[in-house]
Amino acid sequence: AELPPFENEPMVDFTKDEPREEFPRQIELVRSRLGRSYPLFINGNERVTADTLKSVNPANPEEVVGVVCQAGPAEIADALAAAKAAFPAWRDTAPATRAGYLVKAAAAARRRIYELSAWQVIEIGKQWDQAYADVTEAIDFLEYYAREMIRLGTPRKVGHAPGELNHYFYEPRGVAAVIAPWNFPLAISTGMVSAALVAGNTVLFKPSGLTPVIGWNLVELFREAGLPDGVLNFTPGRGSVMGDLLVDSPEVSMIAFTGSLETGLRIIERAAKVYPGQEQVKRVVCEMGGKNAIIIDDDADLDEAVPHVLYSAFGFQGQKCSACSRVIVLDAVYDRFVERLVAMAKTTKVGPAEDPGNYMGAVADENAVNHIREYIEIGKREGELLYQGEAPTGGYFIPMTIIGGIRPEHQLAQHEVFGPVLAVMRVQDFDQALEWANATRFALTGGVFSRSPSHLERARREFRVGNLYLNRNNTGALVERQPFGGARMSGVGTKAGGPDYLLHFMDPRVVTENT
Ligand code: NAD
Ligand code: ALA
Repeated sequence: AELPPFENEPMVDFTKDEPREEFPRQIELVRSRLGRSYPLFINGNERVTADTLKSVNPANPEEVVGVVCQAGPAEIADALAAAKAAFPAWRDTAPATRAGYLVKAAAAARRRIYELSAWQVIEIGKQWDQAYADVTEAIDFLEYYAREMIRLGTPRKVGHAPGELNHYFYEPRGVAAVIAPWNFPLAISTGMVSAALVAGNTVLFKPSGLTPVIGWNLVELFREAGLPDGVLNFTPGRGSVMGDLLVDSPEVSMIAFTGSLETGLRIIERAAKVYPGQEQVKRVVCEMGGKNAIIIDDDADLDEAVPHVLYSAFGFQGQKCSACSRVIVLDAVYDRFVERLVAMAKTTKVGPAEDPGNYMGAVADENAVNHIREYIEIGKREGELLYQGEAPTGGYFIPMTIIGGIRPEHQLAQHEVFGPVLAVMRVQDFDQALEWANATRFALTGGVFSRSPSHLERARREFRVGNLYLNRNNTGALVERQPFGGARMSGVGTKAGGPDYLLHFMDPRVVTENT
C-alpha cells in the first residue's frame, strides 16, 4: 500500500498526563534492567566476546547501565563476510520492500517511545524533553528515508532524442560502516543506519562506547522489523582500535561518520588509501563539529532572544553539534542583554536528568569534564567570567558558565568545547557581527535575532553556515523541515533528513537503448 505523506512525529506535550506518568514509570523499568550484558549481532546471531566494556550513568558513574561485548579483528572479519554475502540479495530487493522494513522499525520505536527515551535519560543524561526529541527524530528518519527511497527507486527517463531510450537510476555501493557519536545516540545512529540500509547497502554499525545500550536498542527495532540476516550487523568496539579496522578494511565501500573534527579528518585521510583486494574507492559521509554563533542585533527582541540563547547554549549541557557556543552582541544592547541572560541563568538548576526540575544534567564522561574545565580556565584568562552557577558532586557535572570579552583570536572563539560554556563577544555594528560570526573554520549552525528586514536579508546571504535560524533558537533541526549539516570543517556538505541525503549512499547508472 502507498505510504501517506511524511509528517514529523509530534513532540512531547507535558501538559498531558501521559508523559508525566510514563517517564517516571519507564525510568524505573529501565533501572530494573541495568547492568545486563549485551552481545554483538552478526549475521542474524547474537555473539558473545570475552572482551567487554561497561557503560555507566554519567550522573552517577557507580551505576552500570550495561556490560557490552566488544568486537575485535575476528568479529569484524565475520561481520564483514556476513554483510558482503547478504549484499547481492539486499541490493536486488525492491526499494519499496526495503522501505517497508524502515516503516516497521518506526512502528516498533513508536510503541516503545517512553522506554527508548528513558534509556537516554540514564545512559547519557538527556533531559526528558531532549530524550523524547531524540526518539522522535529517529522515527522521522525512518519514515522519511523510506519515502525518499521509494521516490528515488523508480528509474527516470532522461533526454528526448528520437530512437533512443535513456534510463537514469541508482544502485547501492556495498558494505557500509556506520560510526556514530554519543550525543544523539538513537537519532543520528538511526539516520545513518537507515539511510545506508534503505539505499540497499548492508551495514556494520559501531555505536559510541558511551551509548552502546542505546545502540543495541536500534538493533532490536530492526530485528522486530524482520530484517534479513547479515544486512545489519552490530559491532561495538573501542573507537581507536575498531574504528581504524573498519575504515581500513578493503571490504568496506563507504563510511558514514558523525563525530568530532579530529576523528572525521582521520577517517577521511585513512579511507583514501587503497588496500590489496579493494574493489572500489571508498566514499566518506562525514558530519563534524561546530563553533556556532547567534548574533544579537541592536533592535532584537530580548524577551525572545534571551531564553532562546540560553536554551541553544545549555540544552543537553551544550553537547549538541548545533549548540550556540558564541553569542555576538551589538554594543548598544550588550549590557542589557548580558544582564538579562545572567538573570535567567541564575534561575536554572543543575542535577540528574531524571529530575525534570533540572535544566542541565551531567556531561558525557570524565574526559569531557577535564576538557571542559580546561577551556573554562582558558576562557577566564582570555576574557572575564560573567556567570558561573553551581553543580552537584558525585557525577560528571559542570556548572553553567558564561564568559565575556571574547574576541575571534581567542581559543574560546575557535575551539569546540562541547559543554555548558558560552562565549560572549561585543561588536560595534552588524558588519562586524557578521565578520566575527564567519571567523571560524566551522560552518554548521548560526542564528540572528533582529527586527531589521535588511539585516536579516544580509544574514541570509553572508552568514555562511549550513543551518541558519532567524529569530529562533539554533538547535533542534527537524527532518524534512530543516535538513541538517554543515560545510567547511563542519562536514562534507551532506544534509541529513533532506532530499539529497540518500544519494550519498548510492551510485547513479544510466542504461541507453537504441529503439
Ligand atoms: P568522536 O569523534 O569522539 O567519536 C565518534 C565516533 O567515532 C565514536 O563511535 C567513536 O568510537 C568513533 N571513533 C573514535 N576513534 C575512531 C577512529 N580512529 N576511527 C574511526 N572511528 C573512531 O565524537 P563524539 O565525542 O562521539 O561526538 C561529539 C562530536 O560529534 C562533536 O564534535 C560534535 O560536534 C560532533 N557531532 C556532529 C554532528 C553533525 O551532524 N555535524 C552531530 C552530532 C555530533
Ligand atoms: N539535528 C540536531 C540539532 O539540530 C543536531 O540540534
